[in-house]
Amino acid sequence: MTEPHPTIGSALDTAAAAFGAAGFDEPRRRARRLLATALGLAAAEIFSRPERPLATAEEARVAALLQRLLAHEPLSRVLGRREFWGLEFTLSADTLDPRPDSETIVEAVLVRLPDRERPYRFLDLGTGTGCLLLAILAEYRRATGIGVDVAAGAVRTARRNAEHLGVARRASFAVADWARAVQGEFDAVVANPPYIATPAIPALPIEVRRYDPQRALDGGADGLAAYRAIAADLPRLLVPGGFFAAEIGTGQADAVAAILAQAGLRVDGQVRDLAGIVRVLVARR
Ligand SMILES: C[S@@+](CC[C@H](N)C(=O)[O-])C[C@H]1O[C@@H](n2cnc3c(N)ncnc32)[C@H](O)[C@@H]1O
Repeated sequence: MTEPHPTIGSALDTAAAAFGAAGFDEPRRRARRLLATALGLAAAEIFSRPERPLATAEEARVAALLQRLLAHEPLSRVLGRREFWGLEFTLSADTLDPRPDSETIVEAVLVRLPDRERPYRFLDLGTGTGCLLLAILAEYRRATGIGVDVAAGAVRTARRNAEHLGVARRASFAVADWARAVQGEFDAVVANPPYIATPAIPALPIEVRRYDPQRALDGGADGLAAYRAIAADLPRLLVPGGFFAAEIGTGQADAVAAILAQAGLRVDGQVRDLAGIVRVLVARR
């Protein structure tokens, strides 16, 4: 006799029990999202049709997704996409999974450059998925920008995202070591560089240390190596009055401000994230 196929309701119970046993918080909510994702259903449908049996292929999809999530793989990585600034970005193994806190940089730019019609020029150092540059270009329809990353795979993903978002004509990308090879002047330079101190990386959550690329996290012995590498080029890259807006790690504000001041920039703004932590420093030429 063959086993009856599980139903949505029994699969939900099984997945919730597995998440609970593995120590995940909110196991039932996780199980519901898992089923909705694997079956291509809205979350509400998971509750409204508990008796619906799963086809063999669906059962296999649920089991495979459960294994990946139990291994702490973020759902965004499984799906290969992440929403940032209300836009959808494709991820790849070479890109950071963009974080909502980084939207603080986009806000900092919008506040300082209120005329959305000007043909501003932007530079994004360590572009990853391109999320910062492309979100900014989506807000300024006449602006252009360059995104730079040392990871060729990230640059490929950023280009694909630019095409998908309809801003590819205004965005160019380069594989390079920070701004060393970049020519020209920009109204704003943005960066979310790697800023985790190397010794702190093993203590990061598994979701981060296992699935985000090391190059996107590792800021060297004190977490500040990238700021030092970027700072020296900033004066030549900014138009008079132009500014640099950088994401920083918790507690790094004074140290990064000192690095920027040493490069001849004047720090004139700190922006806090949703948790009230200073997340972005703004410095002017
Ligand atoms: C924290 S991630 C930020 C990615 C994206 N801007 C975001 O906010 O999601 C840092 C990025 O810097 C890139 N990177 C690291 N070292 C670099 C270097 N020497 N030159 C250029 N980019 C670099 C990494 O590959 C990674 O994409």
